[in-house]
Amino acid sequence: MSDFWSWYIIILVVINIVAIWGLLHFTRELDVTPEEDGTTGHAYDGIKEYNNPLPRWWLYMFYITIIYSVVYLIVYPGMGNYAGTFGWSSAGQHQEQVDDANAKFGPIFEKYAKIEVEELVKEKKAVVMGQRIFANTCFACHGSDARGAPGYPNLTDSGWLYGSTPDDIKMSITNGRTGVMPPMGAALGEDGLKDVVAYVLTLSGRESPTGDAEAGKAKFVICSACHGAEGKGNPLMGAPDLTDSVWLYGGSPMLIAKTVTEGRMGVMPAHRDILTAEQIHLVTAYIYSLTNQ
Ligand code: HEC
Ligand code: HEC
Repeated sequence: MSDFWSWYIIILVVINIVAIWGLLHFTRELDVTPEEDGTTGHAYDGIKEYNNPLPRWWLYMFYITIIYSVVYLIVYPGMGNYAGTFGWSSAGQHQEQVDDANAKFGPIFEKYAKIEVEELVKEKKAVVMGQRIFANTCFACHGSDARGAPGYPNLTDSGWLYGSTPDDIKMSITNGRTGVMPPMGAALGEDGLKDVVAYVLTLSGRESPTGDAEAGKAKFVICSACHGAEGKGNPLMGAPDLTDSVWLYGGSPMLIAKTVTEGRMGVMPAHRDILTAEQIHLVTAYIYSLTNQ
């Protein structure tokens, strides 16, 4: 924080404390001449007000809170850049908790890190730890049951964009993935689009009411560079298999047409700076366990 803002906060805090003390001091008793009946003369709805001070204990409680705030501001941070005599900081407290957790879980993580994922899935405790990491870090995108959502792959089925081996999965998590499906609407034109969609539908054993699948097959050459000549996909670039029943963005003719026209770009963020290598190993085991038990 710059010196200006530091002083700005210090001055505001001091003014506030002094003002509260002053308010308390000057309102202990009102400086009015009482009426004959001993009241201040203020009346509201027939209720009159005596000029009585606050009960002592009550007044002292207010003073105690002021003293408390001053002591607090001496020992804890609160006055701009001043760190407080205890040297406490939220970052420091967090680091302490992280160190504690590392001391506690470190040996367990280390033990599991040495076990291959294929073996680790048999250790129930390890899978549960991986599941917890998943629930903390991944559920917002992949869902709490890892079944995903449109655009976010289901991790419990047989369809994999980037491969299903432990190494593939670990790579996806560690370095992230970006799948780029280019927009093809302009290249295909309106009829071309209908034909290609019709052809894509036949790949998963369906028929299209519109479009000419045969003509679409001929146009599919511009797709095959990524999806493969038979439409079976390519894990190197995350191009999905179009012949199965697993759809990332939806397999209806309308959604396929939308994907092909506008393109798609799914981003799996890299987690190498968010999780440790040991945590990634455990969450990989959890993901692997979903399809390999
Ligand atoms: C440059 C490579 C590339 C080309 C060319 C390409 N695609 Fe794709 N396609 C991809 C990738 C990568 C994805 C996955 C996008 C993602 O993960 O967000 C994808 C996704 C799709 C999907 C969505 C599948 C699903 O599961 O929801 C369809 C349908 C599709 N492509 C059809 C086509 C068709 C038809 C063509 C040709 C007209 C084509 N693609 C050309 C790379 C390509
Ligand atoms: C911000 C959203 C987001 C978060 C958080 C996220 N993912 Fe992903 N993940 C995605 C998307 C989107 C894809 C698909 C990328 C693509 O379309 O090419 C993906 C792909 C994957 C894949 C590859 C799937 C395949 O079919 O090959 C794996 C494995 C995976 N994620 C696991 C995880 C794990 C484990 C975590 C938590 C540590 C995680 N993801 C966190 C969005 C996310």
